[in-house]
Amino acid sequence: MGSGITEVLARSGLDVLVIERDQNALDAGRQRVHASLTKANAAGKISDDDSRRTLDRLRFSTDFAELRDFPFTIEAVAEDYAVKLDVFRRLDEVLVDRGAILASNTSSIPIATLAAATSRPENVVGLHFFNPVPVMKLVEVTPSLLTSDETLAAARTLASEQLAKTPITSPDRAGFVVNALLIPYLLSAIRMFEAGVATAQDIDTGMTLGCAHPMGPLALADLIGLDTTAAVAESLYAEFRESHYATPPLLSRMIAAGQLGRKSGQGFYSYPR
Ligand code: 3HC
Repeated sequence: MGSGITEVLARSGLDVLVIERDQNALDAGRQRVHASLTKANAAGKISDDDSRRTLDRLRFSTDFAELRDFPFTIEAVAEDYAVKLDVFRRLDEVLVDRGAILASNTSSIPIATLAAATSRPENVVGLHFFNPVPVMKLVEVTPSLLTSDETLAAARTLASEQLAKTPITSPDRAGFVVNALLIPYLLSAIRMFEAGVATAQDIDTGMTLGCAHPMGPLALADLIGLDTTAAVAESLYAEFRESHYATPPLLSRMIAAGQLGRKSGQGFYSYPR
């Protein structure tokens, strides 16, 4: 998600500093942006010049302190509560401008809990993109109880005017609007597959051809990442304690086996590298 967000920000004309945790992650992130731009260029979606200009607007670093003068940061680290809290604490320490906005691309973690890790909760807002970010038009914008009107307006303006996405304002509840609806659907498909009711292909074909979804639920879980799907399900279950948010055993076993979907090469389907 981070590389997709990076791409759309830079394509819209913004200078972007990408902070990664180490050199390997940094190289992989840069490579993902390159690959996506190359694909968009081959499809005639971006010219050679715009592609070059987009890359020129990007700077990569592993030094958090380099963020100090940025007016707007978007956190897109793993969907892990402790990791996200740590990032928000560190952002709060390094950002010099007291008006700087701290946005999170969290899929499910309530914004108020991230805001509480900072000394400026009024500047913290949810800005939830969808995969693949350059293609999907929606951004969920989530204010917490403490988000200021100015911060909410700035986040909506970034999404709609700068990035040409369509924002919706979502409530600060686990899963917001989209994942609260999407995740139980994906978990139902996994349970159906786990119970041997139908093959993965037949479940997915049922939903693509029967309901005109662009991809079936098992292929979509692979695209999102099975670890991310489970992490979002856990946030939803922790908040609502409803059984349709509980992680199916097969999903937990696949994650334990390193089968994380597209990013690992194996999920409900195989993705030869
Ligand atoms: N920039 C601009 N356009 C791009 C692009 C880029 N970097 N990369 C691809 N595109 C364009 C392609 O040119 C193509 O355009 P066309 O329709 O005019 O030909 C279009 O995007 C589709 O790309 P592809 O041809 O490569 O791929 P497919 O047609 O197979 O579609 C898909 C792939 C877009 C993933 C489609 O299957 C889809 O929409 N699936 C559903 C995705 C979805 O539901 N995402 C939400 C996940 S939930 C989430 O992210 C939330 C999180 O919190 C869990």
